[in-house]
Amino acid sequence: MTALITGASSGIGRDIARLLAAQGHELILVARRRDRLEQLAAELPVPVTVVPADLSEPGAGEALYRRLEGRQVDILVNNAGFGAFGLFEETPLARDRAMLAVNVAALHELTKLYYTDFKRRDAGYILNVASSAAFLPGPLLAEYYAGKAYVLRLTQALYEELRRSGSHVRVSALCPGPVRTEFDTTAGVTFSARGLPSDKVARAAVRGMFRGKLVIVPGLTMKLVRFGARFLPDKWLLRLCWHAQKRKES
Ligand SMILES: NC(=O)c1ccc[n+]([C@@H]2O[C@H](COP(=O)([O-])OP(=O)(O)OC[C@H]3O[C@@H](n4cnc5c(N)ncnc54)[C@H](OP(=O)(O)O)[C@@H]3O)[C@@H](O)[C@H]2O)c1
Repeated sequence: MTALITGASSGIGRDIARLLAAQGHELILVARRRDRLEQLAAELPVPVTVVPADLSEPGAGEALYRRLEGRQVDILVNNAGFGAFGLFEETPLARDRAMLAVNVAALHELTKLYYTDFKRRDAGYILNVASSAAFLPGPLLAEYYAGKAYVLRLTQALYEELRRSGSHVRVSALCPGPVRTEFDTTAGVTFSARGLPSDKVARAAVRGMFRGKLVIVPGLTMKLVRFGARFLPDKWLLRLCWHAQKRKES
């Protein structure tokens, strides 16, 4: 099979690429840093196509799909994304716009277009990288948390539509807590908890995706957080989340 992975130049995306390559899948790797993608391609034992692209450009998801027309894609990993710490009125609008373009709009466009192809062929896997942020409100990272909730809800809705139509297409949302990647530097946060290694998260992601698991939450801590959050009144949860976020301030 051929896998298209966005955000493959670093962290979780790079480790998912390594794993899928080790399983013999051909890869199409996307990110802005071409040199990083080429370095990765050189170490992998399978044919790799490197596609440098900035997914924050308007319509970037659809443009990428059109660029790849004629290439069959069997696995779509929507992984590219970033966060930005700060009070809502202090995070620049341009950065919010770029974040929503990468984390939400490009993911939506690629999902829509490949999902439609996959449904027609009645085969294919989509792995949308959300976050445990999707389960919680996120003061001080408001746009990021809200965007990840979109990714989770979109994926859940598609899962049910697929199930009811008896389709063999599989969709999953990956919802990790803190992971040791370049994410925290980009977002301007310092995680208070030691994050999971990204290769471990990638392993859980690939295993869950091929099993058709709807929501993949690596590690026990975040499973417990997700479970516990269901029993707290919204306003208590908000206060707890505020304190948890405040501790991430760099
Ligand atoms: N690390 C965590 O704690 C954590 C937890 C939960 C969820 N996640 C999610 O996991 C995903 C991967 O993040 P990571 O932790 O692996 O962080 P990372 O090491 O910073 O990797 C982010 C990837 O996204 C790509 N990217 C960012 N902006 C882009 C743009 N405008 N166009 C194209 N590609 C872009 C980056 O490539 P270039 O810079 O080369 O473009 C890079 O490959 C993200 O969706 C993130 O929200 C991370």
